[in-house]
Parts: sequence; structure tokens; C-alpha cells
Amino acid sequence: MPFHTVLCDALGIKYPIIQGAIMRAGGPGLAAAVSNSGGLGVLSSAGISTAQLVEDIARTRSLCSMPFGVNIQAGAMEFALSRAKIASENGIRVVTLSRIDPKIPVIDYLKSSRIKIMAVVGNVEKARICEQLGVDIIIASGCEAGGHVGRVASMPLIPAVVDAVRLPVVAAGGIADARGFVAALALGACGVQMGTRFYATREADASQAEKDKILAAGEDSTLVSEALTGLPCRLIRENVLEEWEKQKRSGASEDALKALSSDIQKKYWQNSSDAVVSAGQACGLIGAVPAAGEVIENIIEDSIRIILTVYNLTGCITA
Ligand SMILES: Cc1cc2nc3c(=O)[nH]c(=O)nc-3n(C[C@H](O)[C@H](O)[C@H](O)COP(=O)(O)O)c2cc1C
Repeated sequence: MPFHTVLCDALGIKYPIIQGAIMRAGGPGLAAAVSNSGGLGVLSSAGISTAQLVEDIARTRSLCSMPFGVNIQAGAMEFALSRAKIASENGIRVVTLSRIDPKIPVIDYLKSSRIKIMAVVGNVEKARICEQLGVDIIIASGCEAGGHVGRVASMPLIPAVVDAVRLPVVAAGGIADARGFVAALALGACGVQMGTRFYATREADASQAEKDKILAAGEDSTLVSEALTGLPCRLIRENVLEEWEKQKRSGASEDALKALSSDIQKKYWQNSSDAVVSAGQACGLIGAVPAAGEVIENIIEDSIRIILTVYNLTGCITA
């Protein structure tokens, strides 16, 4: 099997490609499509009730018999533990954890339930902490990514994390095609996690307007702002976001910023043409809305071509 890595063995998947959690847009249809195509689909648990998560797990299972995971944003005690309990009680074997707060005992809980844990980190220090806490796999996510981001870009982050920990490392942030996939493997990763690329697929629970925004966006069409969640989050530029940033720079009051943020949050939850959309710099690489399975197929096929080309070039140089 081409590109069979330790990640495939660890997760029981065919290709080392993970669909990153996509809050609001990454539901059962997308997770099942990715898992049925040989990758690992991951259900988002943020912004939904516990009952909805139970329903989403059951629905995904009805659509696919392959492994799939659940994501938990592990920054708040009650939220993290309630979602972990649901994952455990509903037979989930793998969880991705982001925004990990070491004070919240969610890793211990998941380990006692024999669930594999993949921890999303944005720097070496957090990767080392997660290794000590006992996670199984690190997902090193560069600041090119959609969603919440750190400060380090993927190109320096991934090899630094690979050097710093003994665990398998998955690369995330800015990867949307075979070039990024092969580059990630060259940097020492055992697989990739993609969010923005899977957001613009047929199975994502997003409106056409949102997907069109990703298609229209270039590599410089996003900004990092705390306007949506209070934490640095990469979003497609919109006037309302630029205005929030401008007001923040000019020392606007907390109340004024909060009022603007609540407008931004409303626009985030809308599916309309003026929706606020979180996406990564990989938008610039996305020109169509294929099925999730096609994304995976193309990455594998094109990666084989890339590697053969590099091999031929190397052959020419050494000959
Ligand atoms: C719209 C959107 C929502 C996201 N929601 C979550 C989430 O709920 N939990 C999480 O851990 N990561 C979330 N992410 C991050 C992705 O899972 C993934 O790590 C990231 O998108 C990878 O970078 P890329 O966008 O360059 O592919 C989100 C990303 C996007 C674009």
C-alpha cells in the first residue's frame, strides 16, 4: 500500500490522511466519506449538545464501518469530560484533543477508557507536555491552519516537533494537496491532518456560499483575529473583522469590542453569503468542491507521481 506509515497501523486506516475537526461543518456525512475512502474522519463536538454528539456518532456508524474519531476542544473541564464520556460510552477508539489544559484530567480519563489520543499542538513546549501526559500521537499544527492557531508556521514547526518528541507526529496547517502531503512526509511527519481542504468538499455541512468563499480566497485572504472566540483564530477577511481589529488597535472599550464580536459570532453561525468563515491559507490552493474521497484519491495518485519525478531527477543528478 503506498504511503503506509505507523499512523495507518495505529489507527487501522489505509492512508495516513486525517480530516481535521471542522466545527459546524464536519458532521457524519463528511466523517463517513473520509473514513470510507481510507482516511480518518473526525466528528466535531464543539458547538453541539451531548445528545447531538451521540446522534452524530450513531449516524456516522450507520454510514461507514471503518474507524472514525471525535474531536474534543479540551480547554474547559465540564465540556471536555462530558464529551470524553460520550466518546467512551459510544465505542469511539480515537479522539483528537485540541486546546489542551493539563489541569483538566481528560487525557487520564481517555487513557483509562483505552481510547487513542492525538493531541493538536502549535509549538514544541506543548508537544513535550502532551508526551509527558501520555498522549499517543502529536498533531503539529502550523499557524497557516484554519481554526485556532499558534504562532509558528508548519515548515519550521513540524521538523522541530519531530525532533523533540518520540511519538509519531502528524502535520497540519496549510496542506491541501499532494505537494503538501509529500512535503509533510519529508519533514518527518507520519501523516497529515487537513481542515480547510475538507471544508470545501461536497459532504461538508456548509452552505454553497461558504464553500464559494473558500474558492474565491487566495493565500493572502485570511487574517488571525481574536474577534470570534477570544483566542487567535484564522478567518477569511471580512469588513467586520477588519473593523474589530481597527477598533482594538485604537484602544476601543471592552464593551464596544464585545458588541462587534457578538455580531461576528452571529455571522459565523449563519450560512448566508455574508457568513464569517474560518479557513486557512491553503484556500489559495483550492479551486473546486470535489467529493472528500476524490481529495484523498488525488493526493495519493499525485504523490506517487511527485515522488517518481523526484526520484528521476535525483537519478539524473547522480548519473
Ligand atoms: C472552519 C474550521 C473549524 C475548525 N474547528 C475545529 C474544532 O472544532 N476543533 C479542532 O480541534 N480543530 C478545528 N479546526 C482545525 C482543523 O481540525 C485542522 O487542524 C486545521 O484546519 C488544519 O489546517 P488547514 O485548515 O490548513 O488544513 C477547524 C478548522 C476550520 C477551518
